[in-house]
Parts: sequence; structure tokens; C-alpha cells
Amino acid sequence: MNSSTTNEGPVISLRDVYRTYEMGDYTLNALNGVSLDIDRNEYLAIVGASGSGKSTMMNIIGCLDRVTSGDYLLNGRNVGEMNEAELATARNREIGFVFQSFNLLPRASALKNVMQPLVYRGIPRAERQRMAAEALERVGLGDRTDSLPNQMSGGQRQRVAISRALVGGPAILLADEPTGNLDSKTSSEIMALIDELHGQGQTIIMVTHEPDIAAHCERVIRLADGNVESDQRQVRRSA
Ligand SMILES: Nc1ncnc2c1ncn2[C@@H]1O[C@H](COP(=O)(O)OP(=O)(O)O)[C@@H](O)[C@H]1O
Ligand SMILES: [Mg+2]
Repeated sequence: MNSSTTNEGPVISLRDVYRTYEMGDYTLNALNGVSLDIDRNEYLAIVGASGSGKSTMMNIIGCLDRVTSGDYLLNGRNVGEMNEAELATARNREIGFVFQSFNLLPRASALKNVMQPLVYRGIPRAERQRMAAEALERVGLGDRTDSLPNQMSGGQRQRVAISRALVGGPAILLADEPTGNLDSKTSSEIMALIDELHGQGQTIIMVTHEPDIAAHCERVIRLADGNVESDQRQVRRSA
């Protein structure tokens, strides 16, 4: 299922990572010396107060931002040594992003939205269509391929977004408050889907501030002031 199965070590390894902002007369360490390993098929929540560094860590893990110092190894490769083209390829192939606000193309059908990340890979159109239809099937939307985002409920839109994140077989599903815009019943349905994907072998990393959502995960990392305050394994709650 995953595109990168060659590396035996952790899928993510942060080693003494700093992300620093120069604020004129002082320096702010949004990440302040974080060291962390995440293995394949982990189901991880990143929690912590506003300003603790959650988004900064997600952006680094997702290759949207670079470390100021320290090392970030993704599938054993040092992200700090990649050029922009290699970074773009890593983002496209290794990471599937899911956001609170879905971020779908409003004028494109569900199928076209899911096909979109495959465009950059030189996969023929018919094959892209087949892969996207299969990915929509996987999230229970096999009958909504032609629907536009505004013809779907919030839960269905988030399913399309999850399908788009997974279509290329990424090593990691990276979700930032994936249920933040959904009512509690729909949130439960989305969490049941994410639980199922984890059960199928997907590695999942999720930022959340909701204890009910973090309870689905097997490991909870709490950030405070840009560092790991606690790192706990737990028995997960099923939906
Ligand atoms: N572009 C930026 N410039 C300056 N400071 C920033 C920037 N982005 C984030 N920060 C600071 O870094 C710290 C961590 O921010 P962030 O990662 O967004 O936290 P969280 O997502 O946990 O709320 C905060 O003090 C925030 O103000
Ligand atoms: Mg944030």
C-alpha cells in the first residue's frame, strides 16, 4: 500500500530540532530541541496549548518548512539535504495532508479532486481515474464521483479530502484538526474511518486539541514551549 517500504528504521526521526524565528531583539524557538522517533503504522496525536509548537512541528514533518538546526530524517532520508524539487517530491509522495477546512477545489468533482495529486507523477489519465475511483470507494464514496464539493455534506467533503490524501499511497497521513469543522456525530464517523485506515497499516499523525479525538490514538505527544513535555502510549478507544 505505501510507496516507501525500503527503510526499516523509523518513518520519522527528529534529532535536536530547532525552528527559530528572529524577532528583532530576541530569538523565539518555536521548536526548542525536539528529538522524536515515529515508527511505521503508529497512530499518534500531537496535543498542547496554543503556541506550543504543534503547527510548526506539522509543517516540518510535512516538508512545508525546514528546520533551523538539527536533523529531520523522513524514511531515512535527511530532509535538510534535499533541494526544492526533492522536497516537492517528498511532499507529494510521502505525505498525505488532511486539513480542518477540507481544502477541496470548489469547481472540481470529487473524482477530479482526488486525481489532482497524481497529475504531477506522469500517470496516464485513465490510470489516474481508476486510482481515484478506487480511493473514493475506500472511503465509502464510490457513488459520489461526479459530485461537486458544495453538493456534499461536511463529512463527505472530509472523506474526499482523506481519499485525495491517500490516493498516492503516502507513508504518512498528516491531519491537522481533521474533525475541527464537523459536528460530533460526523466527527465520530470520520474518526471511525481513520481508525480503519490505521488498522489497514496506515501511519497516522494528527494534531488535535480535543481529548475525545486524541483518545483514538495509541500514542499522545504533548508539546509545551516548543518541546515534548510528555510522550505516552495508551490503549486506544474505538469509535
Ligand atoms: N511565522 C512566524 N513568525 C514568528 N513567530 C511564529 C511564526 N509561526 C509561529 N510562531 C511562534 O511560534 C510558536 C509556536 O507556534 P505554533 O507552532 O503555531 O503553535 P500551535 O500550533 O501549537 O498553536 C508561537 O509562539 C508562535 O507565536
Ligand atoms: Mg496551530
